Amino acid sequence: MENLKEIVTPLMDWYKKHARVLPWRDEPDAYRVWVSEIMLQQTRVEAVKPYFQHFLKELPTIQDLAQVEEERLLKLWEGLGYYNRVRNMQKAAVMIVEQYGGKMPSDYEKILALPGIGSYTAGAIASIAFGIPRPAVDGNVLRVLSRVLKSYEDIMKQSVRRKMEKEVQAVIPKGHAGDFNQALIELGAIVCVPNGAPKCQECPLSGMCKARIDGVAQELPKKTPPKTRKIEDRTVLVLLSDNKAALNKRPKKGLLAGLYELPNLKGHLSQEEVLVFVKQLKLSPIRIQKLPDAKHIFSHMEWHMAGYEVKIEEPTQEPEGFFFVEKEQMEERYSIPAAFEAYTEYFKNR
Ligand code: ADE
Ligand code: SF4
Repeated sequence: MENLKEIVTPLMDWYKKHARVLPWRDEPDAYRVWVSEIMLQQTRVEAVKPYFQHFLKELPTIQDLAQVEEERLLKLWEGLGYYNRVRNMQKAAVMIVEQYGGKMPSDYEKILALPGIGSYTAGAIASIAFGIPRPAVDGNVLRVLSRVLKSYEDIMKQSVRRKMEKEVQAVIPKGHAGDFNQALIELGAIVCVPNGAPKCQECPLSGMCKARIDGVAQELPKKTPPKTRKIEDRTVLVLLSDNKAALNKRPKKGLLAGLYELPNLKGHLSQEEVLVFVKQLKLSPIRIQKLPDAKHIFSHMEWHMAGYEVKIEEPTQEPEGFFFVEKEQMEERYSIPAAFEAYTEYFKNR
């Protein structure tokens, strides 16, 4: 195949028949497309659906997103991870209110200039919401194109991504930019799948797909493997006073900035070391119990966690930075990163 022209008609016909019904597709205004695309960068479609509905119900307009208190915003994002993405969304929303009267500009370059919006998201918003003929090349699309074109180039390279964007740009059908981009994404999501064998028998492109024809689909795409993650041992404490557990607020900068957490320390501590720490906080431990180990994987590191439940006497004074909350408050009010889930769940279910 010399260029991608051949894929257009079979792909568009396939998409008309097989596109999934998704909540952001029935009414593709720019805000809905934006929110859905940011959520979909980190989470599977099925998991995104309830988050998307809830987010749009709570913050129905860009204006609402610009004005919402950060704590509430983070709570809406709790469980999705990568909290800087939603913080950037709020920054962008403020700019949209200040510079564009609260409406997403219908201009690709202006969309691309907003915080947290790269060429993929800008292309998705421009094409799906405004019909602007720009490509939206994400991991799904890179996989499909690498296979169709039998390209062994490293898709982690920016230059390769740019080249693929050019290939797509050249064949976007007039008046159908949004559906064409979504068709490519959709094919990568449900037919030309990332894990396991691609479903070439169901694929509208199988007759022209070079990788399938040469029997090398599963070798592609080529990616440089990600750097190995740093492993950090931590000890997490469920510090219990009555029916309340201690939380503290993380620093404003760095990993998981500004979120709440269970008290935790570097390293795997013994019971004795934990008790020393608790006493340093001027708290009086009554009983200590080991909890199951847990693991959390971030993009750049892993936490291998040991956990303890420590019952303490009711403090006369809360230690600096710590405060005690009941189960209901922990559920409703505080955004606690998913990394602590094993232990917050333990607290909520005890
Ligand atoms: N993954 C990323 N963007 C998507 C979209 N618009 N539809 C379905 N899956 C997606
Ligand atoms: Fe992917 Fe197979 Fe379709 Fe080629 S024929 S695009 S490998 S699903």
